[in-house]
Amino acid sequence: MGARGVFITLEGADGCGKSTQAALLETRLAALGREVVRLREPGGTAISEKVRALLLDPANEEMSPECELLLYEASRAQLTRQVIEPALARGAVVLCDRYYDSTYAYQAGGRGLDETLVRQSNVLGSCGRVPDRTLVLDLDPATAFARATSGGADRMEAEGLAFQERVRAAYLRLANEEPTRVRVVDASGAEGEVTARLLGSLEDLVPGAER
Ligand code: TMP
Repeated sequence: MGARGVFITLEGADGCGKSTQAALLETRLAALGREVVRLREPGGTAISEKVRALLLDPANEEMSPECELLLYEASRAQLTRQVIEPALARGAVVLCDRYYDSTYAYQAGGRGLDETLVRQSNVLGSCGRVPDRTLVLDLDPATAFARATSGGADRMEAEGLAFQERVRAAYLRLANEEPTRVRVVDASGAEGEVTARLLGSLEDLVPGAER
């Protein structure tokens, strides 16, 4: 085996600014001379993008919580085997916009599926892969929800504000449980300020990130 890369995941409720920050982080980390592979979940492979379309289509109102859980895991397993593992083996920095903590926050926290079942499913869907660092972008749920739904709501966002509040609470529980891996970062304020906070939480893994 050659050099092993760094696996970073970004998490947070809908509208927290994750995707914007993922793009900004990609630029900053690539400037350090690292190969950066930016991905989003669900998605990132041809199969996973098809699964994404199924999951987010507002027409799929009848989807059961169990079907939803398994589709997120199916999409993840394909992405992990096809893209994430090879990239890490090459020594790349993998920056993934959502990973299995989203399943904990949304399917266990939001939907109320059994936590043990969700955690077991996460082991299967991630093929046992654990992120080196998980950054949870934390924003007031009402502000984030208004931002997320200003242009219309997908199937998950249509669940409403109370759902997003349960999602946020689940993320905060995770950070308490696994403080070394999962770091909560204040996502309020100017974009550049948020990026600086995120980079500060990566310095031990990617030397030079904070500069
Ligand atoms: P995105 O809007 O950040 O691309 O994510 C798609 C939606 O899917 C978002 O509402 C969060 C939700 N989601 C889950 O419910 N469970 C999961 O495991 C993942 C990855 C996303």
